[in-house]
Amino acid sequence: MDKVAVLQQKIQEAQLGGGEKRIASQHSKGKLTARERLHLLLDEGSFEEIGMLVTHRSRDFGMERELVLGDGVVTGYGTINGRPVYVFSQDFTVFGGSLSETHAEKIVKIMDLAMKNGVPLIGLNDSGGARIQEGVVSLGGYADIFYRNVRASGVIPQISAILGPCAGGAVYSPAITDFIMMVENTSYMFVTGPNVVKTVTHETVTSEELGGAHTHATKSGVTHFAYANEPECIENIKRLLSYIPQNCENDAPVYPYEMGDETRKKLNDIIPANPNQPYDIKEVIEELADADSFMEVHKGYAENIVVGFARIGGRSIGIVANQPAYLAGVLDINSSKKGARFVRFCDAFNVPLLVLVDVPGFLPGTDQEWNGIIVNGAKLLYALSEATVPKVTVITRKAYGGAYDVMNSKHIGADHNFAWPGAEIAVMGAKGATEIIFKKEISEAADSNAKLLEKEAEYIEKFANPYGAAARGFIDEVIMPDTTRIKLMKVFKMLENKVDTLPKKKHGNIPL
Ligand code: HXC
Repeated sequence: MDKVAVLQQKIQEAQLGGGEKRIASQHSKGKLTARERLHLLLDEGSFEEIGMLVTHRSRDFGMERELVLGDGVVTGYGTINGRPVYVFSQDFTVFGGSLSETHAEKIVKIMDLAMKNGVPLIGLNDSGGARIQEGVVSLGGYADIFYRNVRASGVIPQISAILGPCAGGAVYSPAITDFIMMVENTSYMFVTGPNVVKTVTHETVTSEELGGAHTHATKSGVTHFAYANEPECIENIKRLLSYIPQNCENDAPVYPYEMGDETRKKLNDIIPANPNQPYDIKEVIEELADADSFMEVHKGYAENIVVGFARIGGRSIGIVANQPAYLAGVLDINSSKKGARFVRFCDAFNVPLLVLVDVPGFLPGTDQEWNGIIVNGAKLLYALSEATVPKVTVITRKAYGGAYDVMNSKHIGADHNFAWPGAEIAVMGAKGATEIIFKKEISEAADSNAKLLEKEAEYIEKFANPYGAAARGFIDEVIMPDTTRIKLMKVFKMLENKVDTLPKKKHGNIPL
């Protein structure tokens, strides 16, 4: 055979991975192949493969007769909407996408290139875990990847899509990356599977219940996103990338935006007259953000806080917002962790922060205290205090107690703090406050109830408004809700070149 024909044959062979039969089996499970996924992810014709001809080195268990070109992972680079990315895509048709020494080496190679070149890394995971025939070299390969995930953290964005099994220690590479996306019914992640669970804890649970997309999107918070199918998931990797920069030295892309009428009348009537009545903060976000630009992160997890990316006037921002429509927007352990993790991503990658505040305080109770609301609540406080990106706050309604301080108050470094006219900024709610400070007066009154109501009204008049805070400069401006979007456009433009640095240190010690 001539030399060109040899090459052509090898290329053809590599395209087939584990062969037609296994490709058909992959399709029958509702899954795409490693190459089909890359085809959807990358700009047409942009993919350049690295290591197509790599084969494993295992010579035990008859493996010497089973050499498959590429060894179960397709690696290389390409572009997404013109922006370069490095990618790896595990091929389940080759030994179940399991990770051999050489499979790991291929991933490590592109991780090193991504770091040297300041380019995002995208991993499409679909693997049966460590290549069982290889033993400890496979474990070493995993650790080589974990180590690089950690080194790359905060330097380049790392995105993991889980598109099949991801079990055992293999889960820790995605866990260290910035974002995890899963697909309903075809992907799962767990440290120990249902069989081990059954043996050890006697619980009977399916893979889907234990570690499927729905479980991780709602119960554990392990995945940031869950999608109905692979094309939808891959589309959203591209979308996510549009909000974030190539690396920690760059800014996110700015999209063209033509100014129009930026007043948002709807916002003037969005807060219910009764302060205890909920409203959906996402409706506020929709009004403030450019049309259809809000991409919610961790949508189904700790819904009392809403986080996600959006654009205002074409500029990328990260939004952290209390959600009065869920548990009255109270801060608890999970919402604090969710908020803190998102804030730290935004800060690491120069995405300015907008914090919308309507918070009655921290959630009371033994469950919260015994599970460490103190250290967990401190995470959000720490993350926002530490962040040096532009930080803007809008208090839409309640800002009570410690939660006022935590939610990007002026005191912890916010650059601009706005409040709407109905804002209530105080140490605690009027009823509780009145019962404490006027206890004696109320109990001694002929009509205790009337006295309580009178004192409550007095307290509301004095404290449940934004003017005490504005008088001290803790609030820079009390604004009409319908002007908020314009104010934000101006202020984020003004803060575009903000420079702020942390004191010299090796690294801080966030209360983990
Ligand atoms: C080698 C593997 C493999 C593995 C699957 N295969 N997992 N080969 N090493 N880990 C092969 C199968 O032999 C089969 O080969 C093909 O992949 C497809 O597997 P099936 O079992 O037919 O597929 P399916 O029914 O979909 O089941 C998928 C699966 C199952 C749930 C992933 O294969 C499975 O349980 N695999 C073992 C998982 C595991 O225990 N891994 C090691 C965990 S320890 P043929 O030739 O028939 O197509 C670990 C430690 C990591 O990962 C630690 C890091 C620190």
